[in-house]
Amino acid sequence: MQLLKLGGSAITVKGGYMKANSGSIAALSKAVAAAWKTGVRDLIIVHGAGSFGHALVLKYGIGNGVVTMEEQKGCRETQEACEKLSSMVVAALQKQGVPAASIPPHSLIISKNKRIETFDEKPVLECLTEGSLPVLYGDMVMDSELGFSVCSGDQIIAFLAKWADRVVMASNVEGILMNGKVVPKITSKNFAKIRKHLSGSKSPDVTGGMAGKVAELLKVKAPIYIVNAAKPERVTALLLGKGAVCTEIRF
Ligand SMILES: Nc1ncnc2c1ncn2[C@@H]1O[C@H](COP(=O)(O)OP(=O)(O)O)[C@@H](O)[C@H]1O
Ligand SMILES: [Mg+2]
Repeated sequence: MQLLKLGGSAITVKGGYMKANSGSIAALSKAVAAAWKTGVRDLIIVHGAGSFGHALVLKYGIGNGVVTMEEQKGCRETQEACEKLSSMVVAALQKQGVPAASIPPHSLIISKNKRIETFDEKPVLECLTEGSLPVLYGDMVMDSELGFSVCSGDQIIAFLAKWADRVVMASNVEGILMNGKVVPKITSKNFAKIRKHLSGSKSPDVTGGMAGKVAELLKVKAPIYIVNAAKPERVTALLLGKGAVCTEIRF
């Protein structure tokens, strides 16, 4: 089983407001289709929300809970926006001949204080059994403490990683950078040094950019590859188990 994260920074214009990057969605769908046609079937895609999520969460101030009617309205609008983005991703995959199906995380997950508490895995597994490609995404989910809260695509990846032999994270950078250069491999040996070079995103972001991403992935046992989504051939290569410019993380 492989997990592929399509970063919100890659599939949307992150500084915009509900602005998709259709070219990138199409190119990444082709990259996935190339792997699919070569026989990579045991795959789950999780995508970020980018400017369909972060921008709305900031607009409505719902990053720390949903209580008032205005916040409820903002939450619903954010869920709707994320679903819309997911529908674009699924349509692009289907156009390339990949039988993708969107599974809204807010119908599977209950969080407690922003952390996943329960996750109904059955629809995801059923989707795979049927031969389809499940597509999940960063979403606003019910939260037993906060009403609703943001559940990042990265957190969903980390949760599902127990099934994975490989996790490919396509983002808007060449890999994890240290002093402007891609770090080829991160292990427990060099992690302390590299950690100091991780920070948030430059765009409006509520889930912590690269620092947040790596923090989510600390417990993942499978190898993780941080790769540039703007180089879709690298994404295909990694899905096929081949090498590509990226950062490999093995904790
Ligand atoms: N050491 C680092 N290496 C690479 N990117 C970093 C680093 N530190 C911070 N970042 C920031 O993290 C961003 C990627 O995180 P994010 O915007 O959340 O992407 P995604 O949409 O893929 O989740 C990069 O664009 C960069 O601005
Ligand atoms: Mg992110």
